[in-house]
Order: sequence, then C-alpha cells, then structure tokens
Amino acid sequence: MTSSTCPYPFNRNSPFEPAAEFTRLRLEEPVTQVILPSGEPGWVVSRYQDVATVLEDSRFGRADLMKPDAPTYSGVQPPPVVAASMAAMDPPEHSRVRSMVNREFTARRVELMRPVIQRYADQIVADMASRTPPADLSEQLSFDLPVKVISELLGVPPVDRDKFGRWSRTAAQLDRDPGEILAAAQALYEYMNGLVADKRKNLGADLLSALIAQHGEDHMTDVELVIMGLTMLLTGYATTSVVLTSCLATLLAIPARWEELQKNPSLVADAAEEALRLNPPGNGGMMRITRQEVELGGVVIPRGVIVMAALDSANRDPARFPAPDSYDPRRSENAHLSFGRGIHYCLGAALARAEIQIAVETLLRRLPTLRLAVRPEDLEFNAHSLEGGVRSLPVTW
Ligand code: HEM
Repeated sequence: MTSSTCPYPFNRNSPFEPAAEFTRLRLEEPVTQVILPSGEPGWVVSRYQDVATVLEDSRFGRADLMKPDAPTYSGVQPPPVVAASMAAMDPPEHSRVRSMVNREFTARRVELMRPVIQRYADQIVADMASRTPPADLSEQLSFDLPVKVISELLGVPPVDRDKFGRWSRTAAQLDRDPGEILAAAQALYEYMNGLVADKRKNLGADLLSALIAQHGEDHMTDVELVIMGLTMLLTGYATTSVVLTSCLATLLAIPARWEELQKNPSLVADAAEEALRLNPPGNGGMMRITRQEVELGGVVIPRGVIVMAALDSANRDPARFPAPDSYDPRRSENAHLSFGRGIHYCLGAALARAEIQIAVETLLRRLPTLRLAVRPEDLEFNAHSLEGGVRSLPVTW
C-alpha cells in the first residue's frame, strides 16, 4: 500500500459533493498520510467502518491535542476555553462532566423547547417574508435561529440577547478579524461568569440553573459551568448555522425535492436526516490524536499524530449506504456519522435535529413558493473556513 502526502483538506468543486479524492482513497488507501494546513503530517481515514473506529476506540483521544507540544491542525494552539471543554477531554474526566450534563440536557428538555424554537422560526420567517425578495437564507435564518435557541437553553435574559448574539457570532468565527474574535470571546467569558453568578442567586427553568441545582456527591463548579455554557455556544452555534444552511441548500437545489415535502410534510424528519447525511459538519472531519501506535486498515499509525475521521467520506461509503451520492429520504436505514459516534457523540443532536426540522416546516408553510435565486452550481463552498458549508444561500419566493 502506498501513502500519499497530499495537502489536506482536499479540494472540492461543489458544496454538494465531497472531494473526489475520497472515492479513490476508500478503494485504494483507506488510511493515508496527508499534509495538514499547519504543514505537519497527519492521517486521514475515509471508510465508514474505520471512521467509526477512530471515533469509538480509546486509542484515539482528544486530551493530548491540548498539550503545548502537540501537533496542530492549522498551526494555532486551541484557545484556553476549548482546551478546558468536555470536547477536549478523555475519560475519566470526560465521563464525569458529560454524565452531569446528560442528566439535565435530556430529550424531554428538547421537546419542551420545540414551541420556543417554533416561535423564533415564525418570527424570523415572517420578518423575511415582509421584505422584498431575494434574501440570503443563511444570513436571515441559519445564523439567527441557533443563537436564539442556545440563549434560551442557557437562560440568557431577553434584554441581553442581542449583545449575546453579536458576541457569539463573532466568537464563533463567523466574522473574520482576529482582534474582534478575541474581544468577543473575552466579553462572552465575562458575561457567562456573571450569568452563572446570577443564576446561583435566582434559579430559573433553564439548563444552567438545572446544572447548578444538581445535588448528590458530585456537582459542577462555577468555572465548569462557565466553560460548559461557552462550549455549547462555541461548538453548537457555528456548526448548526453552517449545517442548517447546507441542508436547506440540498433540499432546495432540486425543486422536485421541495415540492415532495410540500405535498408530504410527514417526510420532513427523514428528509432532514438525509440532508444531514449528505452535509456533515467540518471541512476535513473530526480530529483525534493517537495515544499509542495503532494498526488500522492494514496501516500502522504512529503514536502522537493527528488522525482526521472524514465524516463526509464515511457518509458516502457505498459499503455502508446503497447509492450513497443520491438524495433518498426513504432510506430504510440511515446511520450517518454527522453527529459523530462514541463518547463525544454530539451533545446537542436532538436540539439540532429539532431546529432543522422546524426551520424546514416553517419555510414550507409560510413561503410556499420558496426557491433558490441562483443556479445550484453557482453556490460556493466555504473552503477557507474550518466549518465548510455553503457561503450564502440566495432565495426568492
Ligand atoms: C446540525 C448541528 C450539529 C452538528 C452536525 C453537530 C455535530 C457534532 C459532532 C460531529 C460532534 C462530535 C465531535 C467529535 O467527535 O470530535 C459534536 C460534539 C458536540 N456537540 Fe454538536 N453538532 C451540532 C449542533 C450542536 C448543538 C446545537 C450543540 C449544543 C447546544 C452541540 C454541542 C456539542 C458538544 C458540547 C459536543 C462535544 C461533546 C463531547 O465532547 O462529549 N452541537 N457535534
């Protein structure tokens, strides 16, 4: 087996298709060496089964990536908030924090949030409908809805939501200037500190309050609560915005897909799931570091190197999904990896699913003639962002 030293992430020509290189790699070099944007070597895993192994197997970790001498993906060390978050932990630290959050961030809490998500979606779409088309659906809906929902989840008081939304958007690197990003991240950190202190005095019905109120042998410290709030914001916000835009692009790209949902709204949940399979988050995949030498797919990966689990390749693996490049909301089984696998499986998956479904249902109902304002081939992939996705989504109605 040969190993290549291609620059990573691979070029892709369309926001709707993963890099063509993955088709070759899955067949010929399912575990291969690449050059990361930092200039350092890394490994990419492209078959569904191997990607699942990287995400599930404890020989691939996260915590070692936060050490000062660790290899980096882009040449920049992770900021302290990221380094302290559950996403950067291995067991047993991860198990402790995650189980405390799991106890409160339940399916029932998400169900209770559905009417609130619906109210926000109605407001945003009504506001959009009151203006003259075209509009950028990514700007109007995909950036606005997730931050409103996370504010509600964490119990940010309505009077603070605008500034919280502004800081979040900048800190999630949806705007560019590094100085601004840092200032916004600092403002959010201070705000979250104040929010936790306020909630301690005055508990509400939100997730932060529920975590503060946890009793028993173990509980979260104030610092852990602040980090947890920021983690949800930083990991959940940009991802949901970008993936929601890409899912809407997939559903609107072919008018017959959207018309089918108009006729049969009960198909929305399965259509959203299929759009998620075709549009996993991240431009390159999920990152791990080998905690020891590992043999995978017949290749020995050394200890202490970055391994990218390529979700977009795994979700198109013909060994796992028949006709993997086709959009088929009626797949009998759709175990895609867009929310990950194993111990770091997305904490906000149920919430993100609810947001995508509600966004689609609301658009179908309130703007029955919604369609793309450009040709699908004119939509641009956001190749320079870690998040990837469609740069903008012009629509008309
Ligand atoms: C469509 C939207 C979303 C997608 C596709 C998505 C995807 C993912 C993926 C793939 C992972 C695993 C990362 C890894 O294995 O390295 C993850 C983890 C995580 N997600 Fe999401 N996510 C979404 C929305 C959200 C939302 C709305 C929240 C919070 C409210 C959230 C919070 C988190 C957290 C905290 C983790 C880390 C969990 C851990 O390390 O145990 N995500 N997400």
